[in-house]
Amino acid sequence: MNSDFLDFYSKHYGDRWPLLLEALFKETHPVELRFSDSLQSYFLDEASLFAAKCLDVQPGMAVLDMCAAPGGKSLVLASQLAGQGSLQCNDRSPERRIRLQHVLENTLPAAWHSIIKVTGYDGSRFGLHCKGQFDRILLDAPCSSERHVIQSPKHLEQWSLNRTKRLSVEQGSLLASAVDALALGGVLVYSTCALSPFENDAVVEKILKKRKEKIRVMNISPSIDGSDSTSFGVHILPDRSEGRGPIYCAKLEKISD
Ligand SMILES: C[S@@+](CC[C@H](N)C(=O)[O-])C[C@H]1O[C@@H](n2cnc3c(N)ncnc32)[C@H](O)[C@@H]1O
Repeated sequence: MNSDFLDFYSKHYGDRWPLLLEALFKETHPVELRFSDSLQSYFLDEASLFAAKCLDVQPGMAVLDMCAAPGGKSLVLASQLAGQGSLQCNDRSPERRIRLQHVLENTLPAAWHSIIKVTGYDGSRFGLHCKGQFDRILLDAPCSSERHVIQSPKHLEQWSLNRTKRLSVEQGSLLASAVDALALGGVLVYSTCALSPFENDAVVEKILKKRKEKIRVMNISPSIDGSDSTSFGVHILPDRSEGRGPIYCAKLEKISD
């Protein structure tokens, strides 16, 4: 295994690392989302379901899923809207958008389709072009996805400290855009499936400095059994959460324009 990878994560997670690494190789136990007998099922990790539910979407709201493909969390947001309000499912990748479109069409009841729009913008542009427009934003950011990296010798070889630092910069600009696109009183959830400390609380810490008077951190409770409270959110890791995760999420409210 890539020794830089092992050094970095074993330093960060200390005594916990061997069991965490072992847990990352084990099978996941997803939950089934099925909205009617005639529609397809979608299987989603319970920690991902939790992150989407944290957004507390209510019927009638204007909701943005900024990085939506392949669409597992969009399904949760759509089910909470139940056909009332609007849901913009955005993803920059054309290939992944095709999958997203299929997932939405084949899994959700037809009556909910009219309020859903799929777009392909760079998420970091929403703050500029859609200032103050959304009641709820889910930013499930592109991240290191270490659970997948360790399953692939090619991706493991490509792992580097610089890569996780680069991702954290990208995540910071997506998060700044999400804050700016949020309406006053609106709420956003920032989530990743990363283990890297650069991509979780550190990204939230930076935005709290950058958009100081505009946002506040909201409490997330109750959480999944075995999850860790962090400085700004929760981290659900498979060694303590019966195989669920990794998922980090933090919840922010827009308190001033
Ligand atoms: C973690 S995945 C999202 C998973 C999805 N939320 C779900 O639950 O199925 C991150 C997604 O972000 C997309 N992405 C990466 N950079 C982006 C950007 N600048 N703007 C919009 N989407 C982006 C990727 O194509 C990828 O599909």
